[in-house]
Amino acid sequence: MIRFLLGDRELQLEAIAADTTLLNFLREDCARTGTKEGCASGDCGACTVVVATADDGGLHYAPVNACITPLGSVHGKQVITVEDLADGDALHPVQQALVDCHGSQCGFCTPGFVMSLFALYRQRAGEQPARDVILEALGGNLCRCTGYIPIVAAAERALRDATADAFSRGEADTRAALARISAGSESAASADAAPGGFLRPANSNALAQLLGAHPHARLVAGGTDLMLEVTQQLESLPVLIDVSAAADLHEMRVSDQFISVGAAVTHRAAAAAVLADYPELDELIERFGSLQIRSTGTVVGNIANASPIGDWPPVLIALGAVLTLKSASGERDLPLEEFFLDYRKTALAPGEFIRSVRIPRRPPHLFLRAYKISKRYEDDISSLCGVFALQTQGNEVRSARVAFGGMAAVVRRADGCEAALTARALDDAAIADAAAALSADFAPISDARASSGYRAAVAANLLRRLQLEFAGAASTRAHAVHHAGAAHG
Ligand code: FES
Ligand code: FES
Repeated sequence: MIRFLLGDRELQLEAIAADTTLLNFLREDCARTGTKEGCASGDCGACTVVVATADDGGLHYAPVNACITPLGSVHGKQVITVEDLADGDALHPVQQALVDCHGSQCGFCTPGFVMSLFALYRQRAGEQPARDVILEALGGNLCRCTGYIPIVAAAERALRDATADAFSRGEADTRAALARISAGSESAASADAAPGGFLRPANSNALAQLLGAHPHARLVAGGTDLMLEVTQQLESLPVLIDVSAAADLHEMRVSDQFISVGAAVTHRAAAAAVLADYPELDELIERFGSLQIRSTGTVVGNIANASPIGDWPPVLIALGAVLTLKSASGERDLPLEEFFLDYRKTALAPGEFIRSVRIPRRPPHLFLRAYKISKRYEDDISSLCGVFALQTQGNEVRSARVAFGGMAAVVRRADGCEAALTARALDDAAIADAAAALSADFAPISDARASSGYRAAVAANLLRRLQLEFAGAASTRAHAVHHAGAAHG
């Protein structure tokens, strides 16, 4: 059974198709048509709703793309749509600010903008966040026709003039209702393991058993990639196992040696610990999809889908990350660089899944750069992504780990380039040798995102950028970035 709050009303759903999206349920079963379908692929934000989760620290509000959210994944949470915001006859402060600042636009994009601003309001009301925090909050909401300036002004006004809204006043009741659902879920866990449908294992051991019993089931965490098979390819996914239901897979541990990221940890939840050791990744993490995607998609999911253009794999391969793979018969470790065998093919054995990824703590004398190249700055998929992790001594590179996404059928290291950079100064000759080696390391393809020639040229240019930044050039980045949003979810 799936139980959750829709606004302040508890819903209990006995039988749902596993691949039902939250958006279809809201529009078709609840007549909540304020939530719109634009792209149905997590790109435009028209379908943005807010999902609140409870923990000891209170309620946490995250913007979510309802179009690619499996309905079953909102079990135990509160779903808030644009219809919930008004307080009697009074608009919510973010709605009123949009009216006052002339930020109301067409009926397709406006509800999504409202909900993204509502999520920001719930997390940051009363603060005066920097403008780039507001831009980050709006980065997953696209308008193709007018402009964003009145919307940004409305956000600034709503946050500055914030007062307690109906959601603050109702927080105790909401938390109590979610606690009741959570308590009821414990006893229902075995029923959830019945064949078929949307399966919610309580922990990773139960997940391993379920996967053994349902070898054709698909694992889903945020659904930000998997659910495109439903919305774009019109496939049916009759049995889904929800990784995010397993409590132990939400663990993040930081030891002397590793940052360990469990399979259900979202990009947003992982960001703070990763950035504490590797602040150079701030731009890449901020540009990792939209805030909606970062709030639900997971680091491990980005590895497990084995996309050649995933952005975490080149970073984690360059840093020397190690996977822990688990099945009903035990666990084994595997360096991430050995995980990708061929296009969308991995080293997972039948019945195995990724339990966690261990990222080494920052070593001394590391020079790290991660460069994402995409057509749009925000909310876009990489054409290529190059990551350089150099061990240095003075002006010399002692060793190098270089990994690229978007340059081959799998994300992988650039062996020749690494060798050309090793045990020498990063001078013009080294860069020329590394660029020549890079062209032998990869034979990139042409596709909708970039031609092979463009990819090869840009990859070589990234070496020049690396050299400039290694020599102490001021940032070569086009945009200032702000990653505070990564920590307030
Ligand atoms: Fe475009 Fe969901 S409809 S992101
Ligand atoms: Fe709504 Fe542009 S998409 S006004």
